[in-house]
This record gives sequence, C-alpha cells and structure tokens, in this order.
Amino acid sequence: MASRKILVLGSGGREHALALRLLASPSVREVIVVPGNAGTARPPASLSEKVLRNASGSPLDVARAERPDLVVIGPEQPLCDGLADALAAEGHLVFGPSRAAARLEGSKAFMKEFATRHGIPTARHVVVSQPSELDAALATFSAPPVVKADGLCAGKGVLVAPDHESARRAALAMLSGESFGDAGRTVVLEERIEGQEASIHAICDGERYVLLPAAQDHKRIFDGDAGPNTGGMGTYAPAPLVTEALARVIEERIVRPTFRGMAAEGTPFRGTLFAGLMITSAGEPMLLEFNVRFGDPETQVLMETLDGDFAEALVGAARGALAPDAVVASNRHALCVVVAASGYPGTPRTGDVITGLEEAEAVPGVRVYHAGTRLEGGRVLTAGGRVLGVTASASALDVAHERAYAAVARLRFEGMQFRRDIGTRALTSPRA
Ligand code: AMP
Ligand code: GLY
Repeated sequence: MASRKILVLGSGGREHALALRLLASPSVREVIVVPGNAGTARPPASLSEKVLRNASGSPLDVARAERPDLVVIGPEQPLCDGLADALAAEGHLVFGPSRAAARLEGSKAFMKEFATRHGIPTARHVVVSQPSELDAALATFSAPPVVKADGLCAGKGVLVAPDHESARRAALAMLSGESFGDAGRTVVLEERIEGQEASIHAICDGERYVLLPAAQDHKRIFDGDAGPNTGGMGTYAPAPLVTEALARVIEERIVRPTFRGMAAEGTPFRGTLFAGLMITSAGEPMLLEFNVRFGDPETQVLMETLDGDFAEALVGAARGALAPDAVVASNRHALCVVVAASGYPGTPRTGDVITGLEEAEAVPGVRVYHAGTRLEGGRVLTAGGRVLGVTASASALDVAHERAYAAVARLRFEGMQFRRDIGTRALTSPRA
C-alpha cells in the first residue's frame, strides 16, 4: 500500500534521482526534499498521483514537523557532522551512517589506518601532521606521492602530484591551514596507483549488505580526462570493467572486511558505502577512497539499474533488517551526461534560463535530473556548477548513450558545457 512518507535531505542530482526512485516505489505516497531544487518541486507526469515537494528549514525542524517514515541523508557533510545520530535521538528512522561510521569518509587518515588494520588492499601511505615530519615522509616515496587532505574538501582535497617538489608545496599549504583550513592540518601521502577507476556501492544494515551494479564516473572536466577534477561529469552502469568474477573479489577483499571491521570496532555501518576503486592492469582492485553516501552522478544511473521497492530496501537497512533480496538488478543499462555551467569547477555562472527540458525528456528512456537549478516565475534558471544530469536507460549501453546525447542536444543555456566522451571507453573496449 502506498502510504510511506519519506524525507530526502540535499539539493543535487543525486537527491532528485533518489527522490524519484523512492516516489516510484509501490510503498511510497509522498517524498519531501529539503531544500531540493527545481526538479524536486513537483512530481513528474508519470507519478502525478503521488506527492513530491520541497521544504525549507533545518532538517531537524522539518523532520519534527513532518514525522516522515524514513529520513534519507544525501550528502557527506551532515553525516560527518552527526545528523543521523541527532535525528535518531529524536526517534526518527534514518538511512545514513552515524558520525562514528562516517569517519570512513570524514578522515582519510582514519580510513587508511582502518584499511591497513583489516588487510584491505590500498596504496601504502604515511600520515603527516607536522611540517617538520614532511621531508622524511616524502623521502620514503620513490615516485611522486598523491597528497590528500585528511578532512572533507568537497572533492578538491587530492593532488596527484607530478613531482616531489609539487607534493611538498601542496602538503605544506595543507598543513598550515592555508589550503583547506582545519580539514588539511593532517595530510595523507600515498603511493600513486595506475589503472581504471570503478565506483562500487553497497547498502548495509550494520551487518547484512547488498551490492549494487558497478558504475564508472568521469571526474575530469574535459574530454579525454583532461583538465581539473570535478564532482563528476558523467557516469554509466553497469560498468563492463567489473566482471562478475571481479565483483566477487571486490566483495571478499574490500566490502565484507569493511562492514565486518566496522561492526567489530563497535561502529556498525548503516547506509550506503561507496568505494572508489582503482582496478590495476593486473585486474586487482585497490581501494582509493570510501564515501559514506551515494555518489553523484553515480546515483543517477544506479537508480535506473534497480527494480523492486527501493524504499523497502532503505527502510530495511535503516531498521537493521535488510532483506537479502531487497535490491533487484534490472537488465537495463544507463548513462548520465552532466551539463555544467561555464566556470565550473571554479566559480560557476548562474541565473541563466534553461530551455528544452521538456523536449529533452521526450527522448525515449530519458530523464533529466536537476542539480544546480531553481524556479523563478515559472522558468527554470541555473543556480550552481553542475546544472543537470541527462540520464538515459535502454537494454544496451550504446542505445542509452545515443539517447542521452540526443537529449543533451535539445537543451540550451548560456555557456553550458558537457563532455562528449561519456561511456566511450566501455563502448569501444571488448564487452566483458
Ligand atoms: P579521492 O577524492 O580520494 O577519490 O581522490 C580523487 C581522485 O584522485 C581519484 O578519483 C583518483 O582519480 C585520484 N587518486 C586518488 N588516490 C590515488 C592514488 N593513490 N593513485 C592514483 N590516483 C589517485
Ligand atoms: N562522483 C563522485 C562522488 O560522488 O564523490
């Protein structure tokens, strides 16, 4: 029976995708997004019998007023700040890890030490917290190391250094607080690993877990993986790079020991764990980072690859009673092209009118997820760096690719930029 009311916290493309997938779940009647964007302000025509709306105010106040059946926390910052604990203390059912479990993303030093304690394959690292320790630490790396700020830096706290001197300068600027304030006062240096990246998501109830299909992101702003890193410019799933055999290895070496280790250390993980992996040329998975929430724009494609009552899965995980068949993989392939504002990943241009949204969604299998958008006088305006996530699904990846780009071609706003090579590698490499 469609009776559940769910609160989703966040305002990105990830939250729009989660909101629509939850709204489509048979058990859900209403989804409220705080603060949301232009896309989450009303339900799509296909779900017009249900309620989708935005609300403003602090998450705790909105939860007190609305008494939802479940609260889903989208971004990492509130999780690392302990919002799941605060909501749970007021009696709300929450999907998202505790502050203690969120350290897997909130502190890279914690994550690296945890991985080392539990034998999880990851690059060799050294933690540095004093400038006086830096030169000795750098000298232990024969090749230039990757430099990472310990705390949350909105995806900007990592430098894949070209040489030791750049690594040294970046680390010093972090340690002094100049680059990222307190988030950089501890630094992790680690060995650089070569290979192809994959995004693995698993939903866990503290003990039991289910894996979602593998996805691939495109982090750099320009075609051919050139230019600076972004939050993610496009994704596809399932990623043929991760064969069934490799998925089993990832589960055994990385996912299972992480959930077991967290439970054994008294901080069981409830929520979505997103492991950023490097698959080496030898086919070995190495852990680069953990995120304690769904990826953005991974979620936009993952939601297309799942069947069944997704809300039931999240409620089950939040209650500590995840059913083994809670998540059903569909046979669909999905591809998402992020359309960003000019200036992104630096300061984006905002306030431009977006046209062609309906025409884009008229392409079969296409959904345009909103991220940095807002409504003004019935028009949709740009309001952030990543503006839209144009997502297509189909029975094959090449068809999803064609549909997504056909939809992007119908969209217009001043200065829009997007990558033209999302998914190209999977389309041109031999199918797994
Ligand atoms: P992170 O925020 O830790 O995911 O790092 C951002 C990006 O930096 C990753 O997606 C990789 O492209 C790159 N990166 C991080 N750690 C390494 C590493 N040890 N070797 C090579 N590239 C890395
Ligand atoms: N797409 C990468 C992330 O969500 O962190």
